[in-house]
Amino acid sequence: MSHDASPPGCPARVHDSASGLLLLSSAVGAAEPREVYRALREEWGNVARVELEPGVHAWLVLGYHELLAMVRQEQVFSRDPRNWRDLNEGGVPPRSGLLPMMSWRPNVLATDGLEHRRLRQPLDEVVAKIDQRRTRRQVEAMCRDLIAAFSGRGSADLVGEYATIVPMLALGRLFGLDTAGGRELLRALASPGGSADSSGEGDRRFEEILHDTMRGRRTVPTGDLTSAFLDHPNLATEAEHLQSMAVMVSAGNETVTAWISHTLRLLLADPRFAARLHGGRLGVDDALDEALWRDPPVNNMPARYALRDTELGGQYIRRGDCLILGIAGANDDPAIRPEDGGAEPGNRAHLAFSSGPHVCPAQVPARLITRTAVTTALRLLPDLRLAVAGEEVTWRPSPWTRVPTALPVRFTPVPAAPVPAPPV
Ligand code: HEM
Repeated sequence: MSHDASPPGCPARVHDSASGLLLLSSAVGAAEPREVYRALREEWGNVARVELEPGVHAWLVLGYHELLAMVRQEQVFSRDPRNWRDLNEGGVPPRSGLLPMMSWRPNVLATDGLEHRRLRQPLDEVVAKIDQRRTRRQVEAMCRDLIAAFSGRGSADLVGEYATIVPMLALGRLFGLDTAGGRELLRALASPGGSADSSGEGDRRFEEILHDTMRGRRTVPTGDLTSAFLDHPNLATEAEHLQSMAVMVSAGNETVTAWISHTLRLLLADPRFAARLHGGRLGVDDALDEALWRDPPVNNMPARYALRDTELGGQYIRRGDCLILGIAGANDDPAIRPEDGGAEPGNRAHLAFSSGPHVCPAQVPARLITRTAVTTALRLLPDLRLAVAGEEVTWRPSPWTRVPTALPVRFTPVPAAPVPAPPV
């Protein structure tokens, strides 16, 4: 049932803040979020009213076609949070946990139109310069080192000891940081104020590390992404160089952690994949794709802000309303999913990377890092299996990303051997 479009001021349920609206984090943390999004669609239709945190309301766009229509019309749905009415009118508390993801920063994420294209072009061009063979070898070496630290034990937490660490080391390396530098970036993001508060110590340290790297490259340019950003004619100031680096590293961190974790979980817990080593029909690439359909790393992505009164999915959207990309819900939209909801090998029409002008620019390196991390773990850890039932896995609290808190596994212990450095 869809709620009727209603004019401004109408006391319809879509604008009722005292309601039992769904708190978005409870969907992301649910054992099976798709059930929650299905119930929401049942109640509201393809565009549902939800709470981002108690008292802060938004529309969750759960329809596949509605989501595409929204992200492809930037003249109606802006990416710039300065158009968010609730934020401008004090409806979002100053210490709100939403602000790290939803406050304005001078970067590609928060711009529209020509300004967005100016900042976006360098990202696309530096990503295209990544040497994939070299990156794969480097990531594989990092993965082997991490695995060597626990392979003699016969048990590990593949989230805490592996999937959380690989992406930052890999991204750091692309920007010219060594392993120690990558670990320092990770510590900065994980420390109080890192990503939770843009004025916090962690955030400051994060930017300082990138800034030092950038200063080093000014003196001695290399072939890494830091040098490529410095060379790009679209980026005029030091602040723009820094923001471009920071947005790439932070956008790629938790998302890749989630993708590695979901793919490993699927491969280890789902009987359809269990036979993969014995000529099974579904393999690692199918698991990578199915994870993006079923458990997209960003379940819900903030945000778009309506630039005028409009209609979407039968709902009346007021100028300044906030709309969330309900990626997990839209991937499961009955309008595009097969009735049995099963895997469709080779189908990459999911919305895990969004679409339109802000579509993720780093899909190729994200897949490269994730695939290498998954295949290296499967290769080096014999008889790898989950140490808990798939449904016992719990999730980090967030309205946005779905990342397991841990992935306990067991395997046949392998004596740690010195790992020869691969050629680079
Ligand atoms: C599994 C991995 C990843 C997923 C699921 C993912 C998902 C997304 C999504 C959904 C968006 C679109 C936001 C929107 O339409 O509002 C996006 C944008 C972006 N992603 Fe990714 N991402 C991943 C990995 C990465 C990596 C590894 C990097 C960097 C190396 C990266 C950098 C970015 C940047 C810079 C943007 C903003 C682009 C723009 O605003 O024009 N992402 N990503």
